[in-house]
Amino acid sequence: MRLRAISANPASVEADVLAVPIYRDETDLPGELGELDAASGGAIRRAIDWGEFNVLEHPAALVDGGTLAAGRLLLLNGGTRGRPAWRAGRLAAVTTRRLNGRGARSVAIWLRDGEAHDAWVATAVGAMAGTYRSTSVYGRVRDTDAMKRSVPEVLVIGAEQEALDEGAIIGEGVAFGRDLANRSANDLSPERMAEVARELAADGCTVEVLEPADMERLGMGMLLGVGQGAAHPPRLIAVKLPGWESGGDRRLAIVGKGVCFDSGGLSLKPADGMGDMKHDKSGAAAVIAAARTLARLAPDTPLMAVAPMVENMPGGNAQRPGDVVRAMNGMTVEVTNTDAEGRLILGDAMTWAERNGATHMVDVATLTGAAAVAFGDQVSAYFARPREWGEAVGTAAEGAGEWFWEMPLVSEYRSAYDSPHADIVNSGTRDGSLIKAAVFLGEFVTVPWVHMDIAGTAYLTSDKPYGPKGATGAAVATLVRLARDFAAG
Ligand code: BES
Ligand code: MN
Ligand code: ZN
Repeated sequence: MRLRAISANPASVEADVLAVPIYRDETDLPGELGELDAASGGAIRRAIDWGEFNVLEHPAALVDGGTLAAGRLLLLNGGTRGRPAWRAGRLAAVTTRRLNGRGARSVAIWLRDGEAHDAWVATAVGAMAGTYRSTSVYGRVRDTDAMKRSVPEVLVIGAEQEALDEGAIIGEGVAFGRDLANRSANDLSPERMAEVARELAADGCTVEVLEPADMERLGMGMLLGVGQGAAHPPRLIAVKLPGWESGGDRRLAIVGKGVCFDSGGLSLKPADGMGDMKHDKSGAAAVIAAARTLARLAPDTPLMAVAPMVENMPGGNAQRPGDVVRAMNGMTVEVTNTDAEGRLILGDAMTWAERNGATHMVDVATLTGAAAVAFGDQVSAYFARPREWGEAVGTAAEGAGEWFWEMPLVSEYRSAYDSPHADIVNSGTRDGSLIKAAVFLGEFVTVPWVHMDIAGTAYLTSDKPYGPKGATGAAVATLVRLARDFAAG
C-alpha cells in the first residue's frame, strides 16, 4: 500500500473514493463539507436525515460522488469526537476494509478532526490494518485473488508525509504481530516462536533462547512447571535491540505472555471457546512485533523483548493442583489452579529480565477472563507501580491510537494468595480477579513496572467494520510509542 500526504480541496481530490467522517450530532454542513454535499447532489444531507450515522459502529456507506472529482463518497460514522489518534486509526481501518475486493485503485481520507502528527501516524497504521486478512497465514489463495484485493493507494488530506511513513512501518509491525498471534498451536510451538524471533538478527537484534536445561540451572520452577505437561518443551526468548547495551541505567524490558495454547492444564477449561486459546500467546507476539518494528524505526532504543513460551497442557507429566514449585526469585508457589498459568511464566520471565539489566518493566498478557468481561474488546486495562510510570504508558497509548485504562493495584488483596504450605498460591478468589492477577505479578518485580491485560482486546470474536475475527495486534503500537518516549527520556 502506498500512503501519500496531499493538500487539496476535498471536492477536487482525484481519487476513486473520498472518505469523509460525519460526527455525532452533526446537523449543519459547514464550509467544504457543504461543498461536498452540494456536489454530490445532497447525498450527505440525505444520509444524515435517514439516520445513517445514528448507530455507533455502523459500517461506512458508499454513495455516488455526483460532480465531485472523486467518483464515490464513503461516508463514515465518525462517532463522538475526541481521542483523535484512536479515532483516526479506526476510521482509516473502516475505510480500507470497506473497499476490500471493490477494485478501487485509490482512496482519499479527509479526517475533519484532531488533525495532528499522532493522528496522521494512526491513520497510516489504521489504513494498513483495514486491509488485513485473517487468511493471510493459511489461506490457499493469497494476494492474487481479485476478490480479496485491497486498495493500493491511500491519500491523506492535510497530512505530513513523514508521519505516514512512520505509520507504514508501525502498520507493518502490527500486521506481523497479528500473523504471529493468529497462527494455530499445531504450527506455532514454543520452538517455532524461537525460530521466528531468531530471524530478528537480520534487523540487528541480538537473540537469546533459553531451553529447559537453562531454566533448570536458573531455577525457573514456575515456567518449567507450566510447561512440563506438553510434548513441546518451553522456551524463553529474549530479543535485544542494538541500543540495549548502551542503555546504562535506563533499560526497558517488555515481557509478553506466550502461551501457545491454554487448555487450562489439569484445571481444564470447558470445550466451548477453547479454540480461542491459541491467542493466549498474543502478549509474546506483541512484544516480538514491537521489537522488530523498533529495530527498523529506532534501533538505538534501549529495549529488550522477553517472551516466555509454553503450552499449557494436561499431559501425563502435567503439573497438578497442589504442586509446589520454586520461582526464580526464590519464592515457593503452591499451584492451586493450573489455569492461572500466565502469571507463573511471567513471574519468572520478569525476574530474569531484571537480573539481565532491565531498569523498567512492562508486561503484556491475555491474563484474565475478567479483563474481557470488564472491558470488552475496545479497551485494555493497565496497572502501574509507581503510578508515574503508568502515566507514561497512558500517554503512549493515547498517542499511539490505542485505548488503555488504568486500574488500581490493591496491595491489600495480597492476602488472597496466602498459602498454608508455601509463600504464595497462584490463584486467589474470583472476586476482583483482574486486579488480583496484577497483585500476584507484582511479587516478581522490584523495578518500575506496568502490567497490561489485553485478554479482551487481543482478538476479535467476530468480524467488525474495522477488522476480521482474530488477532488485532493490540499493544504493538503502544509499546513502540512507549519505547520511543522512554528513549527520549
Ligand atoms: N488465558 C486465560 C485468560 C483468558 C480468558 C484470556 C479468556 C482471554 C479470554 C488465563 O490463563 C486464565 O485461564 N485465567 C483464569 C485465571 C483463574 C484461573 C484465576 C481466568 O481468568 O479465569
Ligand atoms: Mn489459563
Ligand atoms: Zn492463559
